[in-house]
Amino acid sequence: MLQHENIIIKQFAEKLSRGDIIAIPTETVYGLAADMSNENAVKQIYKIKSRPTNHPLIVHIANKNDIFKYAIDVPSYVELLTDKFWPGPLTFILKKSPLVPYYVTGGQDTVAIRMPSHQLTLKLINMLGKPIVAPSANKFKGISPTRAEHVMNEFGTIIEVLDGGICNNGIESTIIDATDSSYYTILRPGAVTAEDIKNAISYNYPDIKYKEHKNSNIKYSGNHLKHYSPQKLLVSFENKDQLDLIRKKSKNVFIIYYSSYNLENLKNTYKLSSNLQDFTRDFYHVLRLADNSDSEIIAIESPPQKSNWNAVWDRLNKAKHQDKV
Ligand code: TXA
Ligand code: MG
Repeated sequence: MLQHENIIIKQFAEKLSRGDIIAIPTETVYGLAADMSNENAVKQIYKIKSRPTNHPLIVHIANKNDIFKYAIDVPSYVELLTDKFWPGPLTFILKKSPLVPYYVTGGQDTVAIRMPSHQLTLKLINMLGKPIVAPSANKFKGISPTRAEHVMNEFGTIIEVLDGGICNNGIESTIIDATDSSYYTILRPGAVTAEDIKNAISYNYPDIKYKEHKNSNIKYSGNHLKHYSPQKLLVSFENKDQLDLIRKKSKNVFIIYYSSYNLENLKNTYKLSSNLQDFTRDFYHVLRLADNSDSEIIAIESPPQKSNWNAVWDRLNKAKHQDKV
């Protein structure tokens, strides 16, 4: 088995070396990966995703200490966080070292770095011997893929997928701006929560401040109002009465819920777990199912109003956003 796995990983590493784009599993979502040092391959990612070139990519490394190779002026609190949360769903924005090309960072002097925890991808990066860059493997503003088949449905046969099963976290990594040694800002919430980060830092570094994220001049695509979106209209409901109202207006609603509403017998329903980790693992999967169903619209039960559910609220609000144009 292990032998077989090594052969497959070697084949994918060779594809990356040749300049191919492949899809890789991570614990958060599947990524569209290229060898960071191959400019043409990196540019190809933007084309395939239809992503504007000023939205930079995350550099994925397989060894914690490589952060010092690809970033400079790394604040000490970042080391503490990598010790605690890496490998895992936490991405740091730091000042880039000369080893990171500008075509990776959208021309900026900062770089996004993370060490994912999926074993196949860690082995792949080690076998390639270089970092890989990888945005989520979906078209710009669409729903991120959390299963190999999602990537295949989205890109067909042009992208080969290293199948690593279902992504356990199911939503993209937390992004923390750590370019300043005296404060930090959270740019994108994720499984590592603001509270987790605060608790980890404040014990050893009580003077490091958390700064609210406002109009940062850093460009990042997650700050679009619309993102992670299905094609169909997505609305939310707080309770059974609101759901009934939605169902009166539209005959064919795909209902996503987690409370005990006894809807199991209806067509086009999906009951998510009320456990946060299980909810996020299936969240994008069920949005895709709903989008591909014959329903007219999608109605989702509002998540719990708890701070550890912030990342779900963030994704849901963006997924629901209606472009006015
Ligand atoms: O969980 C994840 O982070 C997944 C997996 C594949 O690792 N990747 C992911 O990549 O979500 P992507 O490209 O879909 O989102 C990365 C975000 C984008 O919003 C990008 O603009 C931002 O990170 N970003 C990258 N480099 C940046 C930089 N130098 N400064 C600010 N934001 C940056
Ligand atoms: Mg993305």
